[in-house]
Amino acid sequence: MPDLVLRNANLPDGRGPIDIAVAGAQIAQVAPAIEAQGASELDVTGRLVTPPFIDAHFHMDATLSLGMPRLNRSGTLLEGIALWGELRPTLTHEGLVERALRYCDLAVSRGLLAVRSHVDVSDPRLVTAEAMIEVRERVRPYLDLQLVAFPQDGYFRAPAARAALERALDMGLDVVGGIPHFERTMAEGAASVAELCRIAAERGLLVDMHCDESDDPMSRHVETLAAETIRNGLQGRVAGSHLTSMHSMDNYYVSKLIPLMAEAQLHVIANPLINITLQGRHDSYPKRRGLTRVPELMEAGLNVAFGHDCVMDPWYPMGSGDMLEVAQMGVHVAQMTSVAARQQAFDAVTTNPARIMGLRDYGIAPGCRADLVVLQARDPLEAMRLRARRLHVIRAGQIIAETPAEITHLSLPGRSRDLDVSTIAPPAE
Ligand code: FE2
Repeated sequence: MPDLVLRNANLPDGRGPIDIAVAGAQIAQVAPAIEAQGASELDVTGRLVTPPFIDAHFHMDATLSLGMPRLNRSGTLLEGIALWGELRPTLTHEGLVERALRYCDLAVSRGLLAVRSHVDVSDPRLVTAEAMIEVRERVRPYLDLQLVAFPQDGYFRAPAARAALERALDMGLDVVGGIPHFERTMAEGAASVAELCRIAAERGLLVDMHCDESDDPMSRHVETLAAETIRNGLQGRVAGSHLTSMHSMDNYYVSKLIPLMAEAQLHVIANPLINITLQGRHDSYPKRRGLTRVPELMEAGLNVAFGHDCVMDPWYPMGSGDMLEVAQMGVHVAQMTSVAARQQAFDAVTTNPARIMGLRDYGIAPGCRADLVVLQARDPLEAMRLRARRLHVIRAGQIIAETPAEITHLSLPGRSRDLDVSTIAPPAE
């Protein structure tokens, strides 16, 4: 018998009203009018119930360090890199763990229950890797944290990075990272992609590289990443993060590149909040948008997710752990306002990143882990439009966070009432 039944849920795929029965840590049944004597009941009539938000691209070792040791005055990528170089030697295990745990609390409050974080392994002390491994264990009951060994100063460019990356993988980091566009030359960037894919294939690991995060239309590392993925038999196991140079590439070249990426079954992670802020800084006007070609990649069948990337760190002073904010920015920057694209934008912060992280038992179906988020919204569009409150966050069948609905009391002539913004318009058909 179920322990908990959510009554009259709207699901992200448009089904509903429908009941969700939870037994222990799993979803037992999804059907109308489930019989469940003795079970706890949660009336979610008119509310969207979604599997949790997933962030496939984050930097947990840098988060909440804003102002340490000083602010990024220009707000540019290059000053952010310089600032991180000043901060990194002073990082301590305790400080890293404490900030990461605080961020994970915030994430849970926003219904964000799985994060892939890049971890800078350029400093051979590997204090970042040690701290993030501790965090991964401590948050495991409520948040799935996947760690990428990320040679942030360049695999070849930073002298100690190659040995440190291997040691970080030996310590138990989950994914092989890279940053080919930050190597000294295009050739060294390509060589780093080949070497890192070989390491991943030998160790049986996934790959996720910061790739072509520039406005340079001639940056070609995603092509190399796709080719090395195929050469090493890593199809479906490799993600290219950022890929902002694709925005500026020649259209004819892209018409060849996207099919190659599809052949390699590359996953793509765009980071709309960060790249709309950091890219195009050398432009006068018009200024380019800093986003890869999201709709075209989706159209070609590639799995595309939106990542948060940064929250209050050397590169970005804003952010709130809210993947609906990320999706909302993605909708705007990639012009995803068609009916189909709006749904795809919601998928880009839920089911698509779950595939990238290889999360098993994710979704709203019998046998899936009972990880659910109840939103003060009727459907995915409204959730993104309002960045709706997360009324209940459920992990493995247990409610782990609750936020009261936002209700405003209006005192207006002839129109005084309690207003719930999620019911102001009739439901979309
Ligand atoms: Fe990043």
